[in-house]
Order: sequence, then structure tokens, then C-alpha cells
Amino acid sequence: MTGVRKAELHCHIEGAASPALVMAQAQKYGADVSGFISGDRYVWSDFTEFLTAYDGAAALFRTPQDYALLAQTYLEGIAAENAIYAEIFVSPDHASAAGLTPESYFDGLAQGIEAAKASTGIECRMIVVGIRHFGAEKVEAAAGLAASRPHPLITGFGMAGEERFGRVAEFARAFDIARDAGLGITIHAGELAGPDSVRDALDHVRPSRIGHGVRAIEDEALVKRIAEEGVVLEVCPGSNLALGLYPDMARHPFDRMRRAGVKVTLSSDDPPHFGSSIGREYEMAAEAWGYDAAQLTAITRTSLEAAFVDAPTRAFLLGQLD
Ligand code: ADE
Ligand code: ZN
Repeated sequence: MTGVRKAELHCHIEGAASPALVMAQAQKYGADVSGFISGDRYVWSDFTEFLTAYDGAAALFRTPQDYALLAQTYLEGIAAENAIYAEIFVSPDHASAAGLTPESYFDGLAQGIEAAKASTGIECRMIVVGIRHFGAEKVEAAAGLAASRPHPLITGFGMAGEERFGRVAEFARAFDIARDAGLGITIHAGELAGPDSVRDALDHVRPSRIGHGVRAIEDEALVKRIAEEGVVLEVCPGSNLALGLYPDMARHPFDRMRRAGVKVTLSSDDPPHFGSSIGREYEMAAEAWGYDAAQLTAITRTSLEAAFVDAPTRAFLLGQLD
């Protein structure tokens, strides 16, 4: 399965920093990471603690060069697993907390993206995210920033963070701003909260993709609606298991959703936090549900068809699956 070409639609760049890289950054800035890293592992026990570890790691990327290194390391790592395409969630709010302007943040990331493309051929785009638990005003500001098209590699807008904070309707304006600017739209829903959250996301945000969305499985009519509307789910099984949504892959709904006609894709979310990688996600799916190379490649095809890229790039990438 390692030969199967892969695409990753859902990975938070700050969450892709390995403990080793974060420790090197901590040494550079004389910071203490013992609160959230132990040995070669992140330490957290629930979603709230995970967010603390995530924020702690993000605080140690403070220059464009730091972000270039992070993006290049992540992308070269997944290219070695045969990924040909990735979209990374980028959070101007995290950059700002670390003292970076949005411009220097995007430029640093773009340098890393270009270096990885030069060394491996991997293609990458950025999706600006607002952080839900920072409130609607901050999320609208992130949308406004993305809508100003500050970098050509920014092709989408989304929302991450604590799904149990507020109601989706409060964030609808942010998504209107981003949609009007022609950006691709995705939103985290149906991860920490149930089917109502997914339904609200569909009603108020009209996304072409949903981050996770797996808890829609708790409502049969909703699964049917997602299938009929062709909304693509960015499913991250390793993340879902690590955060305790499901006890094991046998109970994970990915395959049931696929059989119900939902367009499901595979991603790693925050790979080192969850002991995962895009390669590992494909491997786990193959082990759990017996997918062969053709079925795994079909998942990649679904990802590329849903990717926030221009038509020539999409055609080029799809051509690599033949
Ligand atoms: N930010 C980083 N990872 C996340 C996740 N799994 N859910 C919501 N927000 C996130
Ligand atoms: Zn996520």
C-alpha cells in the first residue's frame, strides 16, 4: 500500500510539528516544553489538554524561517509516504500570538511549500482557519484576511477549534465573506459534537467539505442528505480514535459512510499528536476494511476532486493516479 498515491486535505500545520522539532525550537528560544512533551511524545489526556499542547507548540514558531522549516519538514515527510498533494490549515491567530504578521507567516510557509515542491514534486495549498473558541469577531477577521487574497497559495477558508463553543449560525457571516471571495469552504463539525452540529453547518455555511463529520452517522437521514448533496468528509480516523470518539477501527464509521454513498477521504489532522501520518491512515483503513490498492486510490481521487485547486492543477494531479 505504500506505493498508493495519497492526498491529505485536513492537516493543521501547527499540529504537524513533531515533538523533536518543537524541542529544537524550545532550545532555540530557551523555552520549557515539559508541560506538554515528555520524551518523544506529546502529553495530553483530553481535547482541552490537546489544545493546550497544540498552542504550546505553536508558540515556538516565531519567524518566517521557523514556519518554512515546519512546512518543508511536514511536506517532505508525507511525500516520502507517496503523498502528491496536501492542504494545510493555517491559523493567523496562532501566528499573531507568536509575534508574526500574517504576511510573514504566509511567506514563511510558502517558502517551505516551494522547497518541498522542488525536492519532491508535492503540491500544497493553504486554507486559512478561524478558531471557533476565539469568538465570531476573530473568525470574521480571519475570513476578511483570507478574502483579501494575501497569497496565491491560499485557496480556502475554514473553522477549527472547540466545536462545543457557540452555534454555527454565529459564524455564518465569516463564511459568507470567504465564499464571496471565491475561496473553498470547509468547517469542522461532527467531531466533538453530534449530528445537530453537522446539520447546522450544512444549513448555515453550505460547505463543499466538512472536517470530520463522522458523528453524522448517529442520524440516518443526515447521512442520506450528505450523500445526496455530495458534501465531502475529511475523515481523520487516527485522530478520532486518539480523542476517544471510537474505541477502535472496527467501530469507526468511515466504511459505513462510504457504503452509504458519502464521499469520504482520509487525513491525519495533527499527526504527531495522534501517533499518525497520512501513510498510517491509509494503512489502518486497508487493515480495518480490507481495501486494496484500487480502493485506496479511489479515496485519493475523491480527495483530489474535492481539492481547493485550479482546474489545470487538479487535472495534473488526477493524471498521476493513472
Ligand atoms: N485544531 C487542531 N486540531 C483540531 C481538531 N481535531 N478539532 C478541532 N480543532 C482542531
Ligand atoms: Zn482538524
